[in-house]
Amino acid sequence: MRMKAVRMHGFGDADVLVYEDAPRPEASAGEVLVRVHAAGVNPADWQSRWGGDELLAPATLPLIPGWDVSGVVEAVGEGVTAFKVGDAVYGMARFPDWGSTYAEYVTCPTSDLSHKPRHFSHVEAAAIPLVALTAWQALFEAGDLQAGETVLIHAAAGGVGHMAVQLATWKGARVIGTASARNTDYLKGIGVDEVIDYTTTRFDEVLRDVDVVLDTMGGDIADRSFKVLRRGGRLVSIVATPSAELAVQYGVQTADILVHRDADQLAEITTLCEAEYLKATIDSVYPLAQATEAHRKGETNRTRGKLVLKVV
Ligand SMILES: NC(=O)c1ccc[n+]([C@@H]2O[C@H](COP(=O)([O-])OP(=O)(O)OC[C@H]3O[C@@H](n4cnc5c(N)ncnc54)[C@H](OP(=O)(O)O)[C@@H]3O)[C@@H](O)[C@H]2O)c1
Repeated sequence: MRMKAVRMHGFGDADVLVYEDAPRPEASAGEVLVRVHAAGVNPADWQSRWGGDELLAPATLPLIPGWDVSGVVEAVGEGVTAFKVGDAVYGMARFPDWGSTYAEYVTCPTSDLSHKPRHFSHVEAAAIPLVALTAWQALFEAGDLQAGETVLIHAAAGGVGHMAVQLATWKGARVIGTASARNTDYLKGIGVDEVIDYTTTRFDEVLRDVDVVLDTMGGDIADRSFKVLRRGGRLVSIVATPSAELAVQYGVQTADILVHRDADQLAEITTLCEAEYLKATIDSVYPLAQATEAHRKGETNRTRGKLVLKVV
């Protein structure tokens, strides 16, 4: 059987994404076949498209990109009891192996999925898993963020940032976020207590005694983040390994993480979505056939919230 999918026959710029016919996968034991309704778009999608990402599993071309999915169970593999045909599900497929969600159908281990938050559309649900799991693991696993603490979130209006803002607010932390001025009102609306416009203000000149920094940028921003942390504070990066020398100099604990699949965390995220503590801001929606345009938009690094491909 065939399906429509976006495939890469090589690595490179957004033009390597081709909307075409591809074989429809079949669910193995422990997997479900999902009729994809929407696929979330993440920077990892274009960073892996560039090629040479040693964090990911080796690639066999042609390959279908994408990890975030929301859809409906079309068939179940042997031994599957967690879901049945017709269930609405969402999740992050197979990461850091290739997830292949930019397609009409995808197979996925049941442990990568949760029931879709009840009142969410598929577009809203597909925007959640990778960024919410990343923010959860950065703030709560690596950062050990506690109620009453202060957290600085870089790129607070981005995919990971806007999830982190909402999770930190839910936890009872005080939230400071960096963004350009056009995102100030937006960020205050989702729970940021103090917005720092990075185009006019150097955050390390106005902040001190922060408990946790979530670094989504790396480089100079990571290095300057040490200065704003209290001694014993925590710097968690999702983009690079923080400087060991600066960690010693400032008496700061550091961690760098790669998001991992976690069924229990996804279930908790689903509960927070249903309780209206967590929702995705949708910057733009593109038809699956326009994945190239979605990547071009994402690569401008100006996304507010998330980009999503609508399949059905
Ligand atoms: N380690 C992991 O497991 C993991 C998981 C997820 C993501 N990541 C990585 O984390 C990074 C961020 O991901 P994302 O999905 O959040 O990206 P994104 O949604 O594409 O980020 C876009 C946002 O970045 C903001 N921004 C750009 N330059 C900035 C600056 N100098 N200071 C503050 N904000 C700035 C923009 O705000 P303005 O428009 O206001 O400038 C925009 O809202 C990516 O490199 C991604 O690959 C890693």
